[in-house]
Amino acid sequence: MAPEVHDHTGSEVDGASEYFKNNPDPKQLSKHESLAKEFIQYHLETDSERRIAIVTSGGTTVPLERQTVRFIDNFSAGTRGATSAEYFLQAGYAVIFLHRQFSLLPYSRHYSHSTNCFLDFMDESSDGRVLVAEEYQSKMRRVLKQYQHAKSNRLLLLLPYTTVTEYLFELRSLAQLMHPVGERALFYLAAAVSDFFIPLDRMEEHKIQSRGGGKGQGSSTKLVIDLDPIPKFLKTLVDNWAPKGSMVVSFKLETDPDLLVSKAQQSLHRYQHDLVIGNLLTTRKWEVVFITRHDEHWIRVPKARRSKSFSGVADMVGLADTKREPEQPDLEGGTVTEGMEIEALIIPELKHIHDEVIAERRSNGGALISN
Ligand code: PMT
Repeated sequence: MAPEVHDHTGSEVDGASEYFKNNPDPKQLSKHESLAKEFIQYHLETDSERRIAIVTSGGTTVPLERQTVRFIDNFSAGTRGATSAEYFLQAGYAVIFLHRQFSLLPYSRHYSHSTNCFLDFMDESSDGRVLVAEEYQSKMRRVLKQYQHAKSNRLLLLLPYTTVTEYLFELRSLAQLMHPVGERALFYLAAAVSDFFIPLDRMEEHKIQSRGGGKGQGSSTKLVIDLDPIPKFLKTLVDNWAPKGSMVVSFKLETDPDLLVSKAQQSLHRYQHDLVIGNLLTTRKWEVVFITRHDEHWIRVPKARRSKSFSGVADMVGLADTKREPEQPDLEGGTVTEGMEIEALIIPELKHIHDEVIAERRSNGGALISN
C-alpha cells in the first residue's frame, strides 16, 4: 500500500487525501508497486545516468455501479501515450507505461485495431507456413527489433488500470517510488483523466435497472447521474508526490481554439510545474503547443508529412496559435511519404528541455528552478 502524504506538521495536506481515504486500494496496487520498485531499482543499479519516464496513457472510466456494468468513458485510445513511449525509449529513457487496460500499447499499436489488423499483414507460404507479407517485412522487422531491444534490456514496464480511482492510486504510488531517481525522473501525463466521479457511498451496488427497480429512480425511465468533482491532483503530484527536481509535463486538451493557449497558461500558473503541452481534439495529430512561463512554442508536422485522420480537421491547424506565426514551408519537393508522427518531434524537444532542466537543477545543488 502507498504511504500517506503528510506535510511537515504530520497532517494530511490536500483534497486528494480525502479522495484516497474514501476509496479502497485497487486490487492490483501492491503487485504493481513491487514490479515498479524492482524496475526502478534495476535501472538505478545498472546505469546511474538512466532517465525514467512515467508515461500515462488512455482514458479513465467512471463506474456507475459497484458491481460495474455501466460506466462513463472518454474518447482516448492511447495513441499519444503509446507512440510517445516508443520515442522516449528511442531517446534512451526507461519507461513505466501506466495505461488504460486494452488501450494501445507501444509497438503492438502498429498491428492492432480494425484499421491495422495484424492478420492483414500475414500470408501463407506454399508449404503452409505463416509468413509476414513481403511488403510489410521491413517495417515489421524494424518494429520487432525495437520491441525486442526494449524487452531484453528491461526498458519498458506496462502497468494497466481501468477506473479513474485506480489511475490516481497507481500514479501516487509510482511518483513516490520514483524518489531515488530525482531529477532524472520525468512525468508525461498524457492520459485523459476524468474530472467527475460518483462517490462510493452514493454508488448503487447492483446494475441500475432500466425500469422501476433503480434505487432512487422510481419507475422513471430517465437516469439522472449526480457526479462530484475529482480534486485536481496535479498540484499534489508536483508539491508532494513527485521527487524534488523531477520534471512534470502535463497535457491540456481543448476543443475551442480560442481557449487552448490561455487554459494551458492558467494550468502552468496554477500547478507550477515545468511544461504544459496543449492540443486541440481536431488537430492533435498534427500540431501541439509547448507552454512554458515565458514562451508559446508550436510544433507542427510539415504539411506534406501529415497523416490522414478520420477525426482530424485540417483547416483548424493554426487557429489556436495566438502569435499567428506563418507555417514553416514544406521541405524540398513536399513529397508525401509515410505520415510523420508528431511524437517524433515532441519527444526529442522534450529531451532537450530535460537536459537543460537537469543541468540547471544540478548546478543549483538540486534546488527547484523556475522555467
Ligand atoms: O489518446 P489519444 O487519442 O492519442 O489522445 C491524446 C490526448 C488528447 C488524450 C492527450 O494528448 C491529452 O491531451 N491528454 C490530457 C487530457 C486531459 O485530461 O486534459 P484536461 O484539460 O482535462 O486536464 C488537464 C490536466 O489536468 C491533465 O494533465 C490531467 O492529468 C490533469 N487532471 C485531470 C483531472 C483531474 N481530476 N486532475 C488533474 O490533475
